[in-house]
Amino acid sequence: MEERKKRMLSGIQPSGDLHLGNYLGAIKNWAVRSEEYDCFYFMADMHTITVRQDPAELRRRSLNQLAQYIACGLDPEKNVLFLQSHVPAHAQLAWVLDCYTMFGELSRMTQFKDKSSKFHDNINAGLFTYPVLMAADILLYQPDFVPVGEDQKQHVELTRNIAQRFNSVYGDVFTIPEPLISKTGARIYGLTTPEAKMSKSVPEGCVFIMDSPDDIARKFRKAVTDSDTERCVRYDKEAKPGVANLMNIYSTLTGKSFEEIEKEFDGKGYGVFKPAVGEVVASCLRPIREEAGRLIKDKAYLDEVYRSGAEKASWVANKTLRKVYKKVGFYQGLK
Ligand code: TRP
Repeated sequence: MEERKKRMLSGIQPSGDLHLGNYLGAIKNWAVRSEEYDCFYFMADMHTITVRQDPAELRRRSLNQLAQYIACGLDPEKNVLFLQSHVPAHAQLAWVLDCYTMFGELSRMTQFKDKSSKFHDNINAGLFTYPVLMAADILLYQPDFVPVGEDQKQHVELTRNIAQRFNSVYGDVFTIPEPLISKTGARIYGLTTPEAKMSKSVPEGCVFIMDSPDDIARKFRKAVTDSDTERCVRYDKEAKPGVANLMNIYSTLTGKSFEEIEKEFDGKGYGVFKPAVGEVVASCLRPIREEAGRLIKDKAYLDEVYRSGAEKASWVANKTLRKVYKKVGFYQGLK
């Protein structure tokens, strides 16, 4: 029997433009995995409508993000890249799994609790059942691993519970996936709020992949360092989180250790250090921005990537869906 490569799947909501935290914390690591694993990455556009979206913006981002992912090194020949709404099996399996998920389980999801308090005038059923759609996204592809951020771990655990429950009734239908919380990926904090993850909701402290070198330079010049009088480049995450974050960015991009960086900027102060970090970031992002800019203009190419991705994804997903439909007793007389 041919040995199957281990399979990996992850989804990203096209709800904002990609930034340095997304790149260094996740996408950069995904790109190197494609040799070793069978990789499926999709834009979770169906998930985004649990909160109101501007339709034109959602369409624009769904295409732009694909361009940005490819520019970051995710090769569409080596990874299956697709848009969730292009593969109807996601919604189809989600309904079946809804009937194998308990109200109590969904009520305990911390993200639901957070979002329903934040968007209290739109606590829709989709917001509540969203983890079931996510379980369907995953289980359709029978992946071994699901790389996610810490905030999604609870949803992958729920997915495992749903899969185990289903398997215990119908036999081995689903592979039980393992969450993969990356330890190697750099965790990047906001430049103006170094105590919180870099986020598009704080744009002054967030370096977007498509930012111009001037914008990048300005954002790094304004980066928060520390308020002590020492004013030297030294790694101390507790006392100097802003400096530690900048050192981490610099180290990830140059491969230099913290000691080497301390030596390099010894006696030079932040006025030299901050622009230096800005410069390595700008030169790392320049080719990505240029390539993404070029790809965005080639709509025919991007459409073709999505078309072929949907075809490959559907082939795998429909196989699982047919099995599930058969197991639960849906009559399959159609030819
Ligand atoms: N819920 C994830 C997030 O908000 C995105 C997502 C949707 C996902 N479906 C998935 C991630 C399946 C991994 C696997 O970040």
